[in-house]
Amino acid sequence: MASLTVRQLDDKLKKQLRLRAARNGRSVEDEVRTILRGAAADEDAFVPPRTEAQRGRASEADAAHILLIIGGGIAAYKSLDLIRRLRERGIAVRVVMTAAAQKFITPLSVGAITGEHPFLDLFDAHSEFDVGHIRLAREPSLIVVAPATADLMAKLAHGLADDLASAVLLATDKTILLAPAMNPNMWSNRATQRNIALLAAEHVALVGPNQGEMAESGEAGVGRMAEPLEIVAAVQARLAPDSRALAGVRMLVTSGPTHEPIDPVRYIANRSSGKQGHAIAEAAVLAGAAVTLISGPVTIPDPHGATVIKVESARDMLAAVEAALPADVAVFAAAVADWRTTTNSREKIKKSGKQAPELVLVENPDILSTVAHRKSKRPKLVIGFAAETENVVEHAKRKLARKACDWILANDVSPETGIMGGDSNTIHLVTANKVEHWPPQSKTEVASVLVSRIAAALGEQK
Ligand code: CTP
Repeated sequence: MASLTVRQLDDKLKKQLRLRAARNGRSVEDEVRTILRGAAADEDAFVPPRTEAQRGRASEADAAHILLIIGGGIAAYKSLDLIRRLRERGIAVRVVMTAAAQKFITPLSVGAITGEHPFLDLFDAHSEFDVGHIRLAREPSLIVVAPATADLMAKLAHGLADDLASAVLLATDKTILLAPAMNPNMWSNRATQRNIALLAAEHVALVGPNQGEMAESGEAGVGRMAEPLEIVAAVQARLAPDSRALAGVRMLVTSGPTHEPIDPVRYIANRSSGKQGHAIAEAAVLAGAAVTLISGPVTIPDPHGATVIKVESARDMLAAVEAALPADVAVFAAAVADWRTTTNSREKIKKSGKQAPELVLVENPDILSTVAHRKSKRPKLVIGFAAETENVVEHAKRKLARKACDWILANDVSPETGIMGGDSNTIHLVTANKVEHWPPQSKTEVASVLVSRIAAALGEQK
């Protein structure tokens, strides 16, 4: 039997194979086997020519180029795998290493994987002459910092620029994605948290850190760098033109408050703005999903590219959700009113001068729970929110079980957090077997992190 060595194929074919394999989540060798199997099964196998749109997407992906800044932490060894994963997906990677990063991994190993020497020094005659920190900062589609150390984040938050990495971060006009990695005490330190809050306000994006064991023996907590594939998903979600992380996925999102009428002019409502649900719908559209957004009354614009269905009451929302099924993923971000009045007067209720009218309340249907308990047409991934004002995680765990959903994004909506109606959010992701504490970040960032996580979870289910 003849054997075939992929390495000996010409470069263009190898590149096409790598892209195709990455798209299908297979190794290159498996992809070759799949193609051969298909061709053998059907000698007349006909591969339809790629459409204009597909050709356009592929060439945009070819053009995607990120700058990876490797900070000095033990997680730097994972950056080597990250580079490989990004390149497999056709994303070119140029690297800057801090002096501390070079204590953990060598420029030689980075150069071997990227195919070009990493940039090391702000005053290095060669790199400054050839590229310069301004070009390094401006040319990429996105800048990723992984691992992002407490020190690098502090410099970025305060505008310091005393080495190549921090100078590039200060000079860039591109989105910055940080993958923090540090000891849990350093992460929870108030100075670090203050810096994170400053960066979130500047729309710097974060992926991770995750909860788990640290490299130091016996240490565990929040501070582990996100896994390379999670970072890849976050990168793909931001490289908008070629982001196909949720291509082919049907996604349903509820958002905003509901209004429960009392009479033609009055209603029961809550303070939800719809910002979080709308941001999730928008991030999912950017990632290539077909999104149906079912929104209660809000004053913010419809997200571009989603099918938007506008409803008033909880019962309308339930009906619209059921009509929009089937879906692969459903995210219930709406703050549905728990109660409605038994009477919805057709006429305006007038003051009688005697007693105030008595409002009798009945419970609304629970939309999330209804969908999650469905025997048929239950989405593969059902995600709820938990708006709490005390014992946030404990209440969320109980909600997860009671409502039979797969994940809950719990947040503290006490007035002093400013979350309800505000632009930022602090999420605790509760699943059947773990709790993750996400850093404070903008609602847009929460949305893109969630979309990355959904893409990763759907990939694992495959
Ligand atoms: N939810 C829903 N339908 C309802 C009430 C809530 O779909 N009638 C969904 C929300 O969209 C959210 C989750 O359930 O995803 C939790 O909502 P939350 O307001 O936190 O909790 P409640 O179920 O209302 O419970 P409680 O008021 O006791 O906190």
